[in-house]
Amino acid sequence: MTSLSVLVAGGCGYIGTHMVKALLAAGHRVVTVDNLSTGHRELLPGGRLVEGDIGDPALLERVLAGERFDAAMHFAAAIEVGESVQAPLKYYRNNVAATLTLVEALVRHGVDKLIFSSSAAVYGEPETTPIREDHPCRPTSPYGHTKRMVETILADCARAHGLRSMALRYFNAAGADPSGALGERHHPESHLIPLVLEVAAGRRERIAIFGTRHPTPDGTCVRDYIHVNDLAAAHLLALEALAGGAPSTAYNLGNSRGHSVREVIEAARRVTGRPIPAVEAPPRPGDPAILVAASDKARRELGWRPACETLPAIIASAWKWHGAPRPGEPQFQ
Ligand code: UFG
Repeated sequence: MTSLSVLVAGGCGYIGTHMVKALLAAGHRVVTVDNLSTGHRELLPGGRLVEGDIGDPALLERVLAGERFDAAMHFAAAIEVGESVQAPLKYYRNNVAATLTLVEALVRHGVDKLIFSSSAAVYGEPETTPIREDHPCRPTSPYGHTKRMVETILADCARAHGLRSMALRYFNAAGADPSGALGERHHPESHLIPLVLEVAAGRRERIAIFGTRHPTPDGTCVRDYIHVNDLAAAHLLALEALAGGAPSTAYNLGNSRGHSVREVIEAARRVTGRPIPAVEAPPRPGDPAILVAASDKARRELGWRPACETLPAIIASAWKWHGAPRPGEPQFQ
């Protein structure tokens, strides 16, 4: 593909940093806009960083007036399902209102291709599994609603303004770049694999298993873990498809394999060689028992083939990041 100029909103976050690395490796030019509320400046692999908020129309005007962009990718969002129930207005402000400002600016400046980070949360409690893209979208959290609302806004903008977009519905993003230089760093951390590996690294005492009586083979929740670099690869293919004239659509991104919480902990024990104490805890409100993607649409239409599919390989890549000593921290025995 010819080299494109890509505006990346949220390029300093977990998925954003891996994406910027992949875009640069593919020969594209990147400008990241990030307010650094949760992102990390020092992890941005390259390109130009504009520090600021996508909800700030004047900032976007400066960025878009100063350079012609072929496409945009939008990772800048608040991502905690539980927090979204407690603080819905934060989610509607960050994820919907700020996205509107971004989309208005893109339309104003004739940027006609957008890749949007959507989520399995748009489906709510699944009626059938694996979940296909035509499964009804009935989000059960404000977070899920915000992602679905943006999908609707983007579908309308394709018709009215010719802004073609792909909504990529991530299942459970996990793992880290094999270089060991990038990885997941949320404050506070709430995701299973980073928490399990923080226990393995000795930074936490134990992992709590949220619910052991779910209707699953071992009673714990089942999720579809997908490597962050496989997500980035899907974005590159989606970009290529949009550049080739593909219409707006949505794709599930997952491995189509479900793993329970107990399986994740067991796999992490094997990968790290550490004991990883676990305790049973009450279920987390709102957690669906099983979330597994049917991802054949992305495989068929985009030619997407995840390269790091197995749970041990995903955990091993994450361990390279979480298992590395941090400055000022005592070394392992
Ligand atoms: N879990 C535990 N203990 C923990 C943390 C998590 O047992 O300490 C369990 C959860 O209950 C869940 C599974 O591990 O069953 C995975 O939990 P994560 O928090 O890692 O991920 P979620 O499946 O809750 O959330 C992910 C994304 C969200 C997205 C959602 C779709 O992180 O952004 O999938 O519903 F919205």
